[in-house]
Order: sequence, then structure tokens, then C-alpha cells
Amino acid sequence: MIFLTEYANMSNTIADILTSLEKAISTEIVSAKERADNAELALSSLRDGLVKLVGPIANDDQKAEVGKVEPTKSRSAKPSSSELIHYLDENWKSASELRETLGEAGIWPAEGTVYNWFRRLAIEHSTRIESTSKPERWRLITPMSEPRKRKRLPVSRKSQSTKSAAQTSRLITAVMKRPPSKNVINDNQFASDITPMIAGPGFELHQGDCLEVMRKLPSCSVDMVFTSPPYNLGSSSGGGLTTGRNSLWPNSALAKGYASYDDARDPEEYVEWQRNVLSECWRLLRDDGAIFYNHKPRVQKGVLQTPLDLNPDLPVRQIIIWNRNQGFNFNRSFFLPCHEWVVVFAKPAFRLRAGGCAAKDVWTFGPERHNPHPAPFPIELPRRAIENTNARVILDPFAGSGTTGLAALECGRQFVGIDLDAGYLETAAARINDNLTQQAA
Ligand SMILES: C[S@@+](CC[C@H](N)C(=O)[O-])C[C@H]1O[C@@H](n2cnc3c(N)ncnc32)[C@H](O)[C@@H]1O
Repeated sequence: MIFLTEYANMSNTIADILTSLEKAISTEIVSAKERADNAELALSSLRDGLVKLVGPIANDDQKAEVGKVEPTKSRSAKPSSSELIHYLDENWKSASELRETLGEAGIWPAEGTVYNWFRRLAIEHSTRIESTSKPERWRLITPMSEPRKRKRLPVSRKSQSTKSAAQTSRLITAVMKRPPSKNVINDNQFASDITPMIAGPGFELHQGDCLEVMRKLPSCSVDMVFTSPPYNLGSSSGGGLTTGRNSLWPNSALAKGYASYDDARDPEEYVEWQRNVLSECWRLLRDDGAIFYNHKPRVQKGVLQTPLDLNPDLPVRQIIIWNRNQGFNFNRSFFLPCHEWVVVFAKPAFRLRAGGCAAKDVWTFGPERHNPHPAPFPIELPRRAIENTNARVILDPFAGSGTTGLAALECGRQFVGIDLDAGYLETAAARINDNLTQQAA
């Protein structure tokens, strides 16, 4: 009997040791993977920086000079992920093109093997590699590269859309003629006296300055505001995206501001503007509504500025951290900035839907990539907020490409969007149209 008890105790101890070992090893594996990913990202970023400095790499000698990883010479060995990544650049490459490049380095896998290597690589590094099917091709998304252009609806750089009036009116008619989606609240929860630029089942898009448009909307008419304003990045003391001659990131999509707005106000004027916008949003909110305000803290000349500086004395319910999980401001002066805030300003009766609090207050989504707008947020961000409340009408006064609208309609809610730029609103309408088509299919 004593022997059996001892045996049981011993096997429990062994099981405990094994569990602890297992935990320690898996923690080690996860952090090693993270370290490898970060090293790979930093190396690639360094390479991009050097390429920018010395110009395009024309041949292998120059590649070696700018720190390109030497390819594996063996015929049979599969190159490591970081080696494979360096066979990609910003141009689309097919498996046969990649096979030729690999061949130049003395590696001759079958074409199917090359497909498999790059397919897997694209899955493993989805934030770094873009892929297309039919024909299957891959390319690198570098922090400096432009987001993929949508052929169908180019965003204008002028305030007027580059699309012809006929094209725009065809799009508007297509959207307006749609029957209400079964998903969207059918009885109109929102009624304004002003005519939108584009409207369809469950949504209105207004073109103009958001303060001017909002002032024409009735008080207590929306349940939620979800928005991300321009960040005033053109007015920066460094560490941001300054415009013009001082530009740190001249090729960044936002280096020249937005299509109809330069994003470079005098800092005090910017604070005043945002306080006015938030006050106006507050007036439009019903008594159980909330504003979800996406912005980010910044340090300017040693002084921390936070989105709370823009608060016109509204009650703050909480701050949600959006962990973008990546950034591009690689700098030895500070750890890579990777997060933004979503400040929730809520009226006293605002409540989440039952069980909504389980969504927690740190939301991890990578940035949006496939959008012609220069500063879109990913759809997951507004969707996480909307799906966890019972809000029926959602307003975005800085609607851009209409991401909040897509999320609202997907969740069966109504949407009112405002933007200064007509071209962005056309993109928004096209995205909504595509989305409704998919929902109907
Ligand atoms: C950060 S972007 C919003 C992007 C949007 N969340 C998306 O996912 O596409 C800010 C937007 O504010 C718009 N904007 C700038 N000034 C404005 C104003 N006074 N009134 C309305 N919109 C304005 C810009 O045109 C830009 O599209």
C-alpha cells in the first residue's frame, strides 16, 4: 500500500515536471520565433533603407554590398525563410521567375516546390508578403511601398474625383437601387434634412467639412461615433511623417497629406479643431451613445501629447489599446512604436451588449494593406466596437474609404459617413457596393 502511494506521488511529480518542461519549452519556442521575426523585419528594413540610399540594386555584387543575405549554394537544401524573402522585392514575381532567380544562386528546385515554398512563406509572413492567385505571384510589402492600387476605383489626389461624372452617377445609381440587405435594419433610424452625395440601403455619404455637415444634423440622432481623424502629421518636430523638405518618409502614402487636406495645421489650431469636432459628435449622440476616437500618443520635443489633450471635457469611459503589432519608424532612439489608442467617450447610459466586455481592452490587428486610401484602419477595429454594442446608427465624420461603414453594414447597422474628399467617398461607395454584393450572394 505504502509502495503504491509512493509510486502515485512519484508519477504525479514526474507529470508536474514534464508539464513545467513543456511550458518552458513552448514559451522558449514562441519567444525565439518572435525574436527571429523581429530580426528579419529589422534586417529587411535596413536593406530597404540601404537600397534607398545607394539606389536600385542592379547586380549580385551590389546586392552583396548592401547586405543581402548570401543565398544557400546547395542544390538540394531549402533556403531559410529569411533567405527566401530576399528573393522578393516590390515587383510581382511568378514561381517560374523565382525559380530562375534561385537557379542563378545555384538552387534548382522543381517549379512546384518553388510554389510551395513561396505559398507557405506568404502565409507565414502575411504582413510582409502580398500574393495573388491566377496567376500566382508574390511580392514584398515594404514599409515604404505604396499600398496596392485598386484598379477599379483610383482615389483622386485632387478634391474632385478623377472618375468621369457618368461613371460616378452609374455607381451611385447602382448603390441606390439596391434593395435593403436582409442584414441591415430596414426602418430608417436616421433622417437628415440634407441631401447626401451618395446614399443606399442603410447608409448615407456626405461630402464636405465634417463640422459644417454635422451642424446641419439633428441632435441625438446617432448611437455611436467611430472615427479616426487626420493626426496632424504634417506638423511634427520629428518622429512623424513631416511633409515637404523635412519629410522623414518621403515615399509614405501620407507624406503629402490627404487628397483634399494637407494635414499640417498649426498645433494649437489642430487641438481647437478636434475639440470642436468631438463636441459636435457629442451633440449628435443619443443619451446611451458613445464616441470611439482612434488617435495616438506622440512625443514632440520631449513633451508627451496624448489624444486626451483633444478632449473638450467629455467623460472618458476607457482607453482601448490598438496593438498594430508592427510599425515602420525603426530608430535606435526608441522602441518601435506599434500601438494606437481608441478613446471611448461615453454618455452615462452607454452599455455594451451582454457579454461584450469579453472583447477586452487590447485589440490586436495588423494595419490595413489593400486599400487605396493613404490612412485607412482595418475593418476589424470598428467591427470589434460595433458588434459588441447595440448601436443602430453609426457616424464617422472622417469616413475616408468608408471602413466604419463596411463594418456597420456587416453588423446589420446603419451608417452615416462624412469626408472632405469626393474621391474617397466614391471609393467608400464602391467598397460598400462590393460588400453588399457579397452579402447578397
Ligand atoms: C485617417 S483618415 C480616415 C480613414 C478611414 N478611417 C478609413 O478607414 O478609410 C482621415 C480622413 O479625414 C478626411 N478629412 C480631413 N479633413 C476633413 C474635414 N474637415 N472634414 C471631413 N473629413 C476630413 C480626410 O480626407 C481623410 O479621408
